[in-house]
Amino acid sequence: MRITVLGSAAGGGFPQWNCNCRNCAGVRAGTIKAKARTQSSIFVAPDDGADGVLFNASPDVLQQIRSTPALQPARAVRDSAIAAVVLMDGQVDHATGLFMLRERRSPLPLWCTDPVAEDLTQGNPILRVLGHYCGVDRHAIALDGSAFEVPGIAHIEFRALPLDSKAAPYSPHRERPVAGDNIGMLMRDRASGRSVFYAPGLGQITPAVFEAMACADCVLVDGTFWTDDEMPRLGLSAKTARDIGHLPQSGPGGMLEWLARLPATTRRLLIHINNTNPILDEDSPERAELARAGVEVCEDGMQIRP
Ligand code: MLT
Ligand code: MN
Ligand code: ZN
Repeated sequence: MRITVLGSAAGGGFPQWNCNCRNCAGVRAGTIKAKARTQSSIFVAPDDGADGVLFNASPDVLQQIRSTPALQPARAVRDSAIAAVVLMDGQVDHATGLFMLRERRSPLPLWCTDPVAEDLTQGNPILRVLGHYCGVDRHAIALDGSAFEVPGIAHIEFRALPLDSKAAPYSPHRERPVAGDNIGMLMRDRASGRSVFYAPGLGQITPAVFEAMACADCVLVDGTFWTDDEMPRLGLSAKTARDIGHLPQSGPGGMLEWLARLPATTRRLLIHINNTNPILDEDSPERAELARAGVEVCEDGMQIRP
C-alpha cells in the first residue's frame, strides 16, 4: 500500500487567505522555515496498481491532482487514478472538492456514513447538486467494525471506527453528535500485511480508538492544534480545540501522551494541521519536541509506505 499526502493542512490551508498570524505571515514573507500546505486529503493505492482511493475531497483537489502526476495515468481521453472517494466527515475542507470532480462520465463512487450522506443532502446539499452532473454511486460505511473493499482497489481492506469529533457547523445536529459524524479508518494491505490508522479529526482517544492505533504499523492522526486554547489565545476564535472536536497535541491527556504509549515500532505522523499550530515552523521548540518524541509532521506530496 502506498499513501500520498495530498493536503496536510486543516480547513483554511496554510497560509490561510485572510490570516496574518505568525505562521501565515511568516511563510508568506519567507521569515520562518515552513512549507505551504493545502487542505486535508490523502490518496491510498496498492503498490501494484495505478488506481486508488481519495480520502476526502478537499477544496484544493484540482491543485493536488496537478501536483501529483500519478493521479493522471492518461490511459484514455478522460481518465483519473481516483477510483472512489471516501469521506471521514462532511466538513467543508473534506467534502466541497466533490464539486470539482463533477466532469466524470459515470457516477462517482462515494463511500461515507449515513449521517454524513444526510448532511451532504440536507445541510449542505452537495450530493443533490452533483446529481445534476455526474451523480454519485453512494456506498454506506458501516460502523460495526466490518471490513469493506473498494472495487478496483485490490487487496486493501478498510474498517471504519466512529470517532468523537464534530459534525460540520451546517449539520442539523452539530451540537448533538451521532455515531458516524466523524470516522477513523484502519486500512490493511492483505498482500504485505501492513496497516495504517487514519484519523484527521479526532477529539478523544477512547479505548477502541487506542486499540486501533496500537494495532497499526503507522498512524496518521489529528495534528490540528498544539494547545487547547490556541485560537482563543490568538484572539481568532472563542472556541477551544476540544470545542470543535480536535484533541490538542500538548498538555495532560493530549495526543503526544497517547502517541508515547504506542509500540516503539509504530510510525507516528500528524496530519490536518491548522495554520496557527507552532509545529509548522520547522525551527520551533514545539517541532523539536516532536522530533525528540519520534513524531513526524505530514507535508504535501509526502509518500508513505507503511
Ligand atoms: C475542522 O476540522 O474543524 C475543519 O477544518 C473546519 C473547517 O473546514 O472549516
Ligand atoms: Mn477539517
Ligand atoms: Zn494563520
